Amino acid sequence: MKIGIPRESLAGENRVAATPKTVPALIKLGYEVLVEKGAGAKADFPDSEYLAAGAAVVTKKQAWSSDIVLTVNEPAAADLKSMKAGAAIIGFLNPRQAPDLVKALADQKVSGLSMDMVPRTSRAQSMDALSSMANISGYRAVVEAAHTFGRFFGGQVTAAGKVPPANVFVIGTGVAGLAAIGAANSLGAQVRATDVRPETAEQVESMGASFVHVAPSEADQGVSSDGYAKETTDDFNQRAAVMYAEQMKWADIVITTAAIPGKPSPKLLTAEMVSTMTPGSVIVDLAALGGGNCEMTKAGQSFVTDNAVTIIGYTDLASRLPSQSSQLYGTNLVNLMKLLTPEPDGQLVLNFDDEIIRTVTVTRDGEVTFPPPPIQVSAAPAAAPVAAPAPVATPKPPADWRKLFAIVAVAAIALIALLTFAPNSFLNLMAVFVLACVVGYYVVWNVNHALHTPLMSETNAISGIIVVGAMLQLVGLNEGNSVLSWAVRIIACAATLVASINVFGGFTVTNRMLSMFRRG
Ligand code: NAI
Repeated sequence: MKIGIPRESLAGENRVAATPKTVPALIKLGYEVLVEKGAGAKADFPDSEYLAAGAAVVTKKQAWSSDIVLTVNEPAAADLKSMKAGAAIIGFLNPRQAPDLVKALADQKVSGLSMDMVPRTSRAQSMDALSSMANISGYRAVVEAAHTFGRFFGGQVTAAGKVPPANVFVIGTGVAGLAAIGAANSLGAQVRATDVRPETAEQVESMGASFVHVAPSEADQGVSSDGYAKETTDDFNQRAAVMYAEQMKWADIVITTAAIPGKPSPKLLTAEMVSTMTPGSVIVDLAALGGGNCEMTKAGQSFVTDNAVTIIGYTDLASRLPSQSSQLYGTNLVNLMKLLTPEPDGQLVLNFDDEIIRTVTVTRDGEVTFPPPPIQVSAAPAAAPVAAPAPVATPKPPADWRKLFAIVAVAAIALIALLTFAPNSFLNLMAVFVLACVVGYYVVWNVNHALHTPLMSETNAISGIIVVGAMLQLVGLNEGNSVLSWAVRIIACAATLVASINVFGGFTVTNRMLSMFRRG
């Protein structure tokens, strides 16, 4: 079969569905690849590279009349007309928003496979194009914000004065939100984030940001079973609005990514909240296409409010990094093609027993197969069912338990031998060492992530023990005049000097770092 890669016709689209790196993988599956002339030009992939990769460069009509067409966006009506009956199209077909397209595909007997329908299951991860694009968009949102914001993201101490870090608030901590947290954090900003799903707090904190909770109530939803949010209640929204009003006053940059699949974007930020932001602040609303999380957002536009806040509502963030996004999207398509091509014979098989294939297929043989039957997509561990008491049986320890018992037994014998034969001085030192390990473990793990670097400087103070040891040596050698005594004296002096520099230097550096985070 022939795979056609047309040039995208949507205005402003820079991506392409195959790159010179993904073409050989498609050929390896037994397909012939036809790329429309100039299809990859906007993503910096010239025709010559496609030719070198083994593809043929063809006209628009030839690309669209292939057996399988790989696209990024929905096809234009005229392009769809060029497709032959029995062919297949794979791309972001958005069947929920474009029922007319689904009907047109069925009428023309074209099989439609939609990349935005890939389920969020572990097996489908390598085909999850929405996540690939959201990841790029989260990163790009921070780049757009940094470009517009008139200050550094990271705090600095310079000869000309102290620069405070930027305050970034991320709303919605799914794929795009986490990517935005990572990018803002690596630029040195102070990052806070919130989400309606409380289970994301741990991920947020592991990325070095702090999670902001909405004031709790007994009626709140707990951990989500499928990794997606449900619509929130009026009571929750009121409590959330209080939190947003507070955070908007703190934030210099707000990045909103809140989304519920199949529903319009939740409206979280009001014009009144925007009016409390400092002039020069920036809001990047990733949810602009679905109506926006901020009521002032204009989809596809960037504008400045009366109080000098820039609101960016671009809907093409992934397309603004076209080379990278084409590569990741192209790889997602190759992985789907591998699933659709059980033998490397260039034959596409729509096997509905496979839940991924079933879920992405919106039309087959003139029949509309959308919506697919629901499948369980669990991002969080499912809550344990309340089971009836099980019949009592003698429990058989699993293999792991046996291993653990053996390790504990060996450790106990070693400890008894040590207590019996080791000298008292060794046991004293050992007790101090074990206590230090336990205390150290709890001290370090209870320190906030943001303070780990200052903590490392603090640990320089441990050099204090060297100062004490070196001074004891000096006191003990007062009377001796031998060469050895002088050698010890010189080494002890040097140790005292170097360790003191380490101790005081550690505190000075820590003090400078902490002052970067102090306001005023
Ligand atoms: P996702 O489903 O992984 O994450 C959305 C997050 O929003 C979830 O964690 C959910 O719990 C949270 N959320 C839902 N309702 C909320 C509420 N009321 N308050 C706080 N959090 C709430 O989605 P993903 O992939 O991260 O995409 C995020 C948004 O970015 C989507 O709207 C998507 O369409 C958009 N997007 C925009 C692009 C652009 O160019 N502007 C490109 C790619 C994605």
